[in-house]
Amino acid sequence: MNEKALIVCESIYNNNTIKLASAMASRLECKIIGFDEALETDLTSYKVIGLGSGIYFKEHHPKLMKVVEKLNDQQRVFVFSTRGNPKLGNYHEAIKNKLNEQGVKICGEFSTKGYDRTGPFVIFNGGNKGRPHEADLMKAKKFVARVLPQYVYEEKETPKSRNVFVHRECVGCAKCVSVCPMGVFEIKNNRATVKNELDCTHCDLCVTNCQKHAISIKHSNKELIQIAIRHKNKVGLS
Ligand SMILES: Cc1cc2nc3c(=O)[nH]c(=O)nc-3n(C[C@H](O)[C@H](O)[C@H](O)COP(=O)(O)O)c2cc1C
Repeated sequence: MNEKALIVCESIYNNNTIKLASAMASRLECKIIGFDEALETDLTSYKVIGLGSGIYFKEHHPKLMKVVEKLNDQQRVFVFSTRGNPKLGNYHEAIKNKLNEQGVKICGEFSTKGYDRTGPFVIFNGGNKGRPHEADLMKAKKFVARVLPQYVYEEKETPKSRNVFVHRECVGCAKCVSVCPMGVFEIKNNRATVKNELDCTHCDLCVTNCQKHAISIKHSNKELIQIAIRHKNKVGLS
């Protein structure tokens, strides 16, 4: 565990931003804590801190803005978010201004689209479906590797998977094994592993039920069509 780095992040809406946090934390091998814990913790021992949340009315979560007040000019911070809007615009300005006021060095910022079912998006049953997706998570990992090369560990992702990924946050609780209707997962060496990816229907039950946000699925249109083809003769669950 990297004791010099920390990520403060919470998702209050769709678990979108916490997926980015998990991807980044897997490269930094650091802990993720929520807003309340961060507000109660002495953060001064961390050299590098990532601050992330969804964007809610053009800014980060107000509790994350409060966390900034606990930081000092000896620390480096990266800022990240997910948002419904296709463009980031100036959504990071408020937190960056606050960091600047505290004299905290900002080493980079990152944002991707996140699933949003508010306002006009309701008409389409939500915008940015499936976001952040696997490619976004890869970009998040590359981002931390680029801005903090000295803190990044070698990637050891599951080599065989093409679309279903178990990340290193997995604690082997076997929730994915029990919720997956297709028996895609098994536990090996106290970790979930993908036993038969071709059976996966991309229903996302594993992703939404994983308490550690350790599973992600890449939903490419090509693969989704392949799933329909592979399962076309299937009748019943067994
Ligand atoms: C109350 C509320 C306000 C939001 N305001 C904005 C906004 O001003 N701009 C935007 O691009 N997205 C906005 N969104 C969409 C969220 O930023 C987006 O869904 C984000 O991915 C949620 O992150 P989370 O799942 O980590 O909480 C809003 C969502 C909610 C629920």
